[in-house]
Amino acid sequence: MVRKKVLTEDGSHTRFHPHYQEHYHSLSGARNEAIQRFVVPCRVIEKAKDAGVVRILDVGFGLGVNVAVTLEEIRRQVPHARCIWVSLEKELLPIADLQEHWGEGKVSEELCQLVSDLSYDGEFWGGRIVVGDARDSVRRLKGPFDAIYLDPFSPSRNPEMWSIGVMRALWEVCEEGGILSTYSSAAKARLALMAAGWEIGLGPRVGRKSSGTVASRGSVDPPLLTLEEKQRRSLERRLNEETGINGCDPPSPPDGISSP
Ligand SMILES: C[S@@+](CC[C@H](N)C(=O)[O-])C[C@H]1O[C@@H](n2cnc3c(N)ncnc32)[C@H](O)[C@@H]1O
Repeated sequence: MVRKKVLTEDGSHTRFHPHYQEHYHSLSGARNEAIQRFVVPCRVIEKAKDAGVVRILDVGFGLGVNVAVTLEEIRRQVPHARCIWVSLEKELLPIADLQEHWGEGKVSEELCQLVSDLSYDGEFWGGRIVVGDARDSVRRLKGPFDAIYLDPFSPSRNPEMWSIGVMRALWEVCEEGGILSTYSSAAKARLALMAAGWEIGLGPRVGRKSSGTVASRGSVDPPLLTLEEKQRRSLERRLNEETGINGCDPPSPPDGISSP
């Protein structure tokens, strides 16, 4: 299946997936999206500075733009810190195609090793790619992770990745105080996160897309940006109607429960 390469507005490239009929990244900028949508809201640099190590789970390796950009940013801003990286992906593209998205340099060479061996252990970072359906892989992960990049295709095209069961499995491997970020602001995504026990807040607006969603396991300091009151109440009402969970109950959805 050919995935056509497309230039985005920040000069970096993405691709178009013919089956999902979606681009892998925002057309406003693939690299910019990695920073604004994931590195910043997940507080990756702060964590690396404070703890000297940051553990990141990347749901949907795709073209590897998020990993390349994150590793470059950590190395640029906190060169003494180490990153532990795990990516989940069911369709790993050929290295030659992926490499076109990583530019040149050390990180690109290291990522080539990661993709060819499915693991990498170097001075600044170590990681692995778990190839297969993320719904299964996530249940076998040990964690904990400080940051989770939730980046499958959209809830309407890739619905299996947005179920309460997946969100709960991600919650289980998240460190207390860890943060998940996603571009989706769909009620389906937010309801599944809430039902799985995540605290949710407003994500940043990237390009022309609406604000995404940021979620934390437990409370974080500084707190997440709150959703508009009307929006929050409507989600809580739907959560209660559709799952019987009210915003205050400790959630314990059964394994594999379907999406709201
Ligand atoms: C939007 S792209 C991710 C872009 C990527 N984060 C990057 O920086 O290039 C979504 C990815 O999720 C993967 N995906 C979708 N459903 C999946 C599933 N059930 N299990 C594992 N990967 C899945 C797709 O194959 C695709 O590569």
